[in-house]
Amino acid sequence: MCGIVGYIGPKEKKEILLEGLQELEYRGYDSAGIALIENDTLKYFKSIGKLENLRVKTKNYTSEGFGVCIGHTRWATHGKPTELNAHPHLGAYSFVIHNGIIENYQEIKDELLAGGVNFLSQTDTETIVHYFEKNCKRNGHAFEAFQQTVERLQGAYATLLISEAAPDTIFFAKNGSPMLIAFDGDDVYFASSDSPVIGRATEVYYLEDGEYGYAKAGEVKLFDENGEKSFTRQALTADKVLAQKDGYRFFMEKEIYEQSRVMGETMMGRVLDESIVFDELDNSLFEGIKAIKICACGTSYHSALTSAYLFERIAKVRCDVEIASEFRYKEPLLTKDTLFITISQSGETADTLEALKMAKRAGLKSLSICNVDNSSIVRESDAAILTRAGIEKGVASTKAFATQTMVLWMLALYMGQERATVSSARLKAEIGAMLHTPKALIVTDELHAKLHRLSKRYLHGHGFFFIGRDIFFPLALEGALKLKEISYLHAEGYPAGEMKHGPIALADSELFTIALMPKTMHYDKIKSNVEELSARDATILAISPEPFKLADDFIQTQYSSHPMVEFFEMMVVTQLLALEISVRLGNDVDMPRNLAKSVTVE
Ligand code: M6R
Repeated sequence: MCGIVGYIGPKEKKEILLEGLQELEYRGYDSAGIALIENDTLKYFKSIGKLENLRVKTKNYTSEGFGVCIGHTRWATHGKPTELNAHPHLGAYSFVIHNGIIENYQEIKDELLAGGVNFLSQTDTETIVHYFEKNCKRNGHAFEAFQQTVERLQGAYATLLISEAAPDTIFFAKNGSPMLIAFDGDDVYFASSDSPVIGRATEVYYLEDGEYGYAKAGEVKLFDENGEKSFTRQALTADKVLAQKDGYRFFMEKEIYEQSRVMGETMMGRVLDESIVFDELDNSLFEGIKAIKICACGTSYHSALTSAYLFERIAKVRCDVEIASEFRYKEPLLTKDTLFITISQSGETADTLEALKMAKRAGLKSLSICNVDNSSIVRESDAAILTRAGIEKGVASTKAFATQTMVLWMLALYMGQERATVSSARLKAEIGAMLHTPKALIVTDELHAKLHRLSKRYLHGHGFFFIGRDIFFPLALEGALKLKEISYLHAEGYPAGEMKHGPIALADSELFTIALMPKTMHYDKIKSNVEELSARDATILAISPEPFKLADDFIQTQYSSHPMVEFFEMMVVTQLLALEISVRLGNDVDMPRNLAKSVTVE
């Protein structure tokens, strides 16, 4: 989630770095830093908080002449957001920046500590620079030292290193985290995505996993495990918005595809092999807590509803969920043994913010689950867990919902672990399922093509019912909300078992039923509910790992190992269905009529 920028050339470097980092700031903003080599001498500046603080700190500095420079905006994984933990990390005469996680850093660190190296930060990144300098000292050759360093690293990284040992050079390596090299004549740029270099460079090369090398003015040498290799530059688009969509037609589509990756970031450093860790939470937050109350709106409300099943089932703590706009005026009875949780993508939703203020006035402890650091809701809360979905541009929320739900699942498990309501075997099994989730979120070409084909049959009718049971009921609500937001067709989410108490009266061939039929949760019960609808001629689109004979249309899901894994896989299907219907209807997918991304009015 961190942002990386680098540059070699004669231009003013501070502005290149700060402007580039500004483009990436949404990815991480708990600290930022830059390092430069000018006239063979290292200089650096770091500050915590937003990039603006770094801008203020460097206000009187301008670089001069040819030089190399690197910049980083951080989103903490190892160690708190302090200036010492901010990148670039300094060795004796080199600086490094890094995005990702070095999995074997402790082993390298122990070795370096034993050799007398002094560490200033708590980060995994700092090991890179010290290990590089150790190698440099041994063999006296900067590139070989870097090569040996890269060979030793395990995990995900995109890293840039500069050193007085080779003052005209940037060393780079990529594995599992994105990085590109961009070119404008002899000037060479690095970045973790293309927005910082659009408008500056004309050609680009997107590094592949396992590639590393070095760059000097006008010269880039690329290597992988087989030795030096050639590479082909491609033209870099000049259109920022197009580039931001990464080739997808809509931001919503891009965000649906991104879910698999961002889920890894949501879990990073929090989901360990045998436990759940939230560095951002102080255990005093849970002292004396006997119940949870969650307030949210729209999609965030649906993730809250999902979590209520999980909090009660896993952590054995009572959990009530309320729509924030209703909560505000109901004169709720609030007791101090209740933890008040707000969920919000934007962190600015007026109803949710006001509900939070009410709870605080009543003396409740508060926790927010949010995608935007420093937003009003985060600032107002006693504690916050960031969902780390990255900026969400589509008005119809997708990846924010996915990551909120994941954080809530993790939190239920965390509370279960702290309150000893989950056995270690269950904890392990849940963690195994969590780690499996990114796979279940992958959009295959086959699935997308199928939903595209199938969507043409769902452009009319007198309504859609999304039905499900248990956690699949809130998912049904969310599926229906997605569809109505961008297709403008009438859709409702309903508990499958409740249809017979009224709504089944609507059933005929023009009533489209989207049936969520997971194998791991009440399959036979929901099957009966769907059979009842089919007997009344409703058109059924079944989503299930189990083939269902009565379905008019059928999407077969792949995973049936854990209800939450099924949940996330089915979520993707409902999102793509809404998207494809909306596209066929010619609607503006990213900016649907009458809606706003952030609802800051009552
Ligand atoms: O930013 P928030 O999560 O607080 O926003 C709440 C709702 O306004 C939001 O989820 C809305 O329902 C979305 N358009 C759903 O796609």
